[in-house]
Amino acid sequence: MTADGASVAYDRFVPGNGDHRGQGRHKYDPGAYGRGIAEDYDRLYRSIVDTEAAVDRLIALAGGGPVLEMGIGTGRLALPMHRRGLEVAGIEGSTEMVEVLRRKPGGEQVKVVVGDFADTRVPGDFSLVVLALHTIFGLPTPERQICCFANAARHLGRGGRFVVEARVVHASDFVDGQAVQSRFSGEDHVELQVQRFDPVSQRMRVSNIHLADGRPVRMNSFSNQYTTPRELDLMARMAGLLLAARWSDWEGGAFTGSSRRHVSVYEAMPDP
Ligand SMILES: C[S@@+](CC[C@H](N)C(=O)[O-])C[C@H]1O[C@@H](n2cnc3c(N)ncnc32)[C@H](O)[C@@H]1O
Repeated sequence: MTADGASVAYDRFVPGNGDHRGQGRHKYDPGAYGRGIAEDYDRLYRSIVDTEAAVDRLIALAGGGPVLEMGIGTGRLALPMHRRGLEVAGIEGSTEMVEVLRRKPGGEQVKVVVGDFADTRVPGDFSLVVLALHTIFGLPTPERQICCFANAARHLGRGGRFVVEARVVHASDFVDGQAVQSRFSGEDHVELQVQRFDPVSQRMRVSNIHLADGRPVRMNSFSNQYTTPRELDLMARMAGLLLAARWSDWEGGAFTGSSRRHVSVYEAMPDP
């Protein structure tokens, strides 16, 4: 559902067929990912992501001003920012994720609007809008991703920034359109990622398989619409935003041809 209650139709993943408009159309639900994982999200991702470095970087980029997080989830980034004195708001598609956020200390003080971050409006102007962890690719079409950039730009105050963290796909990782990778390997928990990628439509089907000692296998599957970093830059331009910085991680590592992820900072284009 979009903010105004309209459903967005999109095309089902069809490997090897880039032009599959009209086949298998079904409704996009921005709450679907969170609904399936809300109660397990923190346990599964606690040790996988570099939260501290991300929070430090976001606080520096916000410069003390208010922050809006698109896809705020259970507050992994938002709550530490709030604890460190920033005003933080969020847009979230899943009421289940918001419920988990609300149960945590400080969770009641973070304003969250439930809706699709491609077009949901939160009152106020923000110094920083954040969209972390490849979540932009959950939007079902490039057109909806363009809407998302426009929505981010709409929320920025003067001098504001939009930060996007997203993965980079390398065609060489795929054999016959499929790849299996270890995403995390700990003493009693490993995560395998099985992906199918159609280079024509750039649609992906991703299954994250969690194997933890003494627990049943946990599988989390979803579709993604992949967009290259340069395509994201063009979407930003369409929204009046320019790339100001791009790193390979939250610590500011150099972004190179072998980077598997990028953290990109967009700012409003200067007045002509
Ligand atoms: C991978 S989680 C990331 C959560 C949090 N940002 C973090 O870094 O831990 C993605 C979050 O975005 C939400 N989400 C996905 N698509 C959305 C959409 N179109 N509109 C609003 N929320 C969405 C999901 O429900 C989920 O909470």
